[in-house]
Amino acid sequence: MNKNAIGVFDSGLGGLSAVKQMLCAMPNENIIYFGDTGRVPYGNRSKDTIRRYAMQDANFLLKNNVKMVVAACGTVSSVAPDLESTLKVPYTGVVLPTCFTALKESKNGKIGVIGTTATINSHSYKTRIQLKNPSFEVFEQDCPMFVPLVENGFIDRDDMVVKLIVEKYMSNLKNAGVDTVILGCTHYPILKDAIQDFMGKDVTLIDSGKETALYTKKVLEENGLNNTDKTPGTAQFFVSDTPDNFEKIASLFLSKDMQNCVSRINIEEY
Ligand code: DGL
Repeated sequence: MNKNAIGVFDSGLGGLSAVKQMLCAMPNENIIYFGDTGRVPYGNRSKDTIRRYAMQDANFLLKNNVKMVVAACGTVSSVAPDLESTLKVPYTGVVLPTCFTALKESKNGKIGVIGTTATINSHSYKTRIQLKNPSFEVFEQDCPMFVPLVENGFIDRDDMVVKLIVEKYMSNLKNAGVDTVILGCTHYPILKDAIQDFMGKDVTLIDSGKETALYTKKVLEENGLNNTDKTPGTAQFFVSDTPDNFEKIASLFLSKDMQNCVSRINIEEY
């Protein structure tokens, strides 16, 4: 049993898709979240920059004595898998847990993967799926406009701008006949309704945030690090730029008032 917080980070709002599921699956755990809103997006940056940012993000969380680090970011998980070896606490990214579920869900062996440009160029999801089952066909698509859409609050499934951009990115996967789509960037579950509307109800969407939250619970339990206390956990949120926008969109997505719940830090100090 360990009462320390779980540390979760992402480039911005995306990791909240993991936090939302953690709050349901582990309501008594404490959570410290860092969203690097001053440097979002990560997905079109170089490997070196993404690695450096990820290391600083993890260092901030470790300074707060977290018992586990969760990179709730498809980009970091894909480009900096070696981050794990530098940490002294358990760590997970999002690629591994998400691929496990996609392999179980797909019936026709055709899986679509959407992610940031850095994630898609790394082929992280495709490699892991085909390592487990070489007969699976994997169709990859980067969607660089999805993160700015989410960060700017364009998350309504009926918004014409959202619909058009979803159609632009998802058409190839729809035409390829995939029955399962991995939302390989944690921002994308926030657009899940719009993506589902376009792909149709027979296509299963795998939420990388949700799978990572469930996997985190398993890792904590296996390591005897889960908080068995019955009192509800607390969640603290930090960002690297002004909290206003984050508070507004996070309130909508988490269905809870986040006004004055988010603090700004200087991530360059870590
Ligand atoms: N949410 C992140 C991911 O899962 C980062 C997106 C970005 O900053 O480009 O890839």
